[in-house]
Amino acid sequence: MGFGSIDPVAPTPYIAAMATRDIVIIPDKRLRLVSEPVKTVDKSIRTLVDDMFETMYAAPGIGLAAIQIGVAQRVVTMDLAKKDDPPEPQVFINPVVTWSSDVTSTYDEGCLSIPEYYEEVERPAKVKVKYLDLDGKEHEIEADGLLATCLQHEIDHTNGVLFIDHISKLKRDRVMKKFKKAAKHGESTKPAHPSDDVPEHHLG
Ligand code: NI
Repeated sequence: MGFGSIDPVAPTPYIAAMATRDIVIIPDKRLRLVSEPVKTVDKSIRTLVDDMFETMYAAPGIGLAAIQIGVAQRVVTMDLAKKDDPPEPQVFINPVVTWSSDVTSTYDEGCLSIPEYYEEVERPAKVKVKYLDLDGKEHEIEADGLLATCLQHEIDHTNGVLFIDHISKLKRDRVMKKFKKAAKHGESTKPAHPSDDVPEHHLG
């Protein structure tokens, strides 16, 4: 082992700091990938979750799926706490909708991967979702309101589906065209810090 070379056996210093990662924006094809189920909830998943929270809070957003930072694993982070309330971080690993209501609700959705675009989306008003927590323990919850909408939006991401798939083709084509053009011209698609600051809209 020569001087100045890296000893492969030496332990990597533990880096405690979480990292903000770049958010993948349409038309990036990775957003269309079907993510892989998590086999074991290990340290790498916990690091991924830490980075997802860091990225989500910085955006700011209320929900994030791993594929939105380019990791095709079925992991979702969420925090639906109101602006001045204490944070309520929630993690859903391998989330699956096991039941959905016939009754629907409509919500003005947005997505961190489609910056500054909002449209009303109709979805089942209530869902049951099965998932694993960070200890690998299975849970099933019944959700309504914003949680139901957000869970469906994020589970869609794990299946390569975007909220614009639920709106009219005309509107979807229009928004895709705009982002394709921006990508072609190399424009930064990273949004300016939202001045309206309505985090409820930035679903993720
Ligand atoms: Ni989204």
